[in-house]
Amino acid sequence: MPPSSPQRSRSRRSLALAALFGLLATLLLYATPADASAALRQHAAARGRFIGTALATGPLASETAYRDLAAAEFNQVTPENALKWDATEPSQGQFSFGGADAIVSFAAQNDQQVHGHTLVWHNQTPGWVQSLGATAMRSAMQNHISQVVGRYASNPAVVSWDVVNEVFDDNGNLRASFWYNTLGQSYIADAFRAARAADPDARLCINDYNTEGINAKSTALYNLVSSLRQQGVPVDCVGFQSHLAIQYGFPGQMQQNLQRFADLGVQVRITELDVRMVMPRDATKDATQATYYRDVVNACLAVTACAGITIWGFTDKYSWVPDTFSGQGAALIYDQSYQRKPAYTAVHDALAGGTVTDTTPPTTPGTPAASGVTVSTATLTWTASTDSGGSGLAGYIVYREQGATDPELGRGTGTSLTLTGLSAATQYQVYVRARDGAGNLSPASATVTFTTATGGGSGGGCSAAGTVQSQWSTGYVVQPVTVTNTGTATINGWTVTFTLPAGHALTGSWNATLTVAGQTVTARSLAYNATLAPGATATFGFQASRPSGDTATPSGYTCAS
Ligand code: G3I
Repeated sequence: MPPSSPQRSRSRRSLALAALFGLLATLLLYATPADASAALRQHAAARGRFIGTALATGPLASETAYRDLAAAEFNQVTPENALKWDATEPSQGQFSFGGADAIVSFAAQNDQQVHGHTLVWHNQTPGWVQSLGATAMRSAMQNHISQVVGRYASNPAVVSWDVVNEVFDDNGNLRASFWYNTLGQSYIADAFRAARAADPDARLCINDYNTEGINAKSTALYNLVSSLRQQGVPVDCVGFQSHLAIQYGFPGQMQQNLQRFADLGVQVRITELDVRMVMPRDATKDATQATYYRDVVNACLAVTACAGITIWGFTDKYSWVPDTFSGQGAALIYDQSYQRKPAYTAVHDALAGGTVTDTTPPTTPGTPAASGVTVSTATLTWTASTDSGGSGLAGYIVYREQGATDPELGRGTGTSLTLTGLSAATQYQVYVRARDGAGNLSPASATVTFTTATGGGSGGGCSAAGTVQSQWSTGYVVQPVTVTNTGTATINGWTVTFTLPAGHALTGSWNATLTVAGQTVTARSLAYNATLAPGATATFGFQASRPSGDTATPSGYTCAS
């Protein structure tokens, strides 16, 4: 089913015609699909998509290199902060559009479309809004939308808006924000109706994070969009933020997830793509990061209703990641000195990868056999898949069978993979899926079950203890979690498990790889802190969110080696 499109005005229609001629011209100019010298925006346009970046007002005003790359490489921009409520209406009725106007005018000069981010959010909204009673808050929201959207309604560069942002919490329940607590769920429909009234031609989006793959939260979003549209609420588009991290694995079934939303009749788009890593950066992490960028672009390209991809900034010099996730960073496609990273090439080559869309998945891999099982490792071997869809076999992913969401244990390009960082004395049931160059995943192979060896003798070879370093009403930082080798022999790899209280969710971590199953968190050592002599210690840390006012903190730290 095609994406819905709101009524377009005459000016927008002529813009669309101009864009169509531009597209045809671009197709003629770039008939060779993989022209390495062409910019990202030229390849994206040839595929009928946008490739965008978030823009920050500071460097846009002060740095030529920033301006030049933003103009040359992207055909879409999203103001990173300049259109948020704290920037546009810091005091009631006092509007300020300096930063937003600068970005809109830059975009207009460079033939870039602008996506307005964001009208109604629980963050970066001034205290005066949050303290209003229900009637006053609803009318403040409607007035804000009317003023902000209305200001750009006749500007052909501004084509779409994030009307509401992050209305779900990490468990897929409607977030208990001040909006929800004061107005109830109806604020969402009211916000969309106000935006449609302010600009009948703009495309209106709902935007969220951790909704890229098929999971409980994306299913909750899917159900909400479906029900809003059934009620006639003007939701035209769904944005998938896509703040990914190489240590947490690639979202499961991303293309299929985008497609199920598209089948509701909405446009879909990747709105805030970045792929962070635990620092320091190295060539292996860069290469993995590049595959994530490639796979996101390919997932979008494989879905007709996916309009394009916005990267959340383009240079590591200006990224929100290190300020929020201590010890993590390097999430973007240019480094701090504006040099292209492998991720740039991956985005470029995916966008340039020809005009035939491959939607045929590879065949199912053979049942894996497990060998060489140790305390923390196991080697799997299977027979190869084949791919006939055109994009070619790109590799394999090994998953652990665990119920609703199966975590990824590793990926590689050959038909054998050694899994590392496994927990001692633990049964694993695993399967393999093949992946092609367009991101299509094969059906799952049959599973194999193995149990890792027992380590450290009775009582274990290590212990773990966590210290709450700081906390606030809605979250806390645990730093350090200290892991001690309590045995008499050197250990090569440790695994710490602990329990998050109900309603808490992990928001960041450092110095270990953390995975979450239900409320149980498993932290695995990294290469540089895996080896501990008797008596030696290693530390890692993490950050979590919790329901406002809850004072509980994690418990049950247990170490295995
Ligand atoms: O402008 C002030 C400056 O005057 C002050 O000196 C400085 C001191 O901290 O803060 C500056 O404001 C910061 C602002 O970015 C502009 O740089 C805020 O502290 C900082 O919190 C804010 O962070 C933004 C974050 O949203 C806040 O929620 C990030 O730049 C922005 O990338 C990030 O974007 C969000 C999306 O809107 C929604 N999805 C998630 C995404 C990442 O968190």
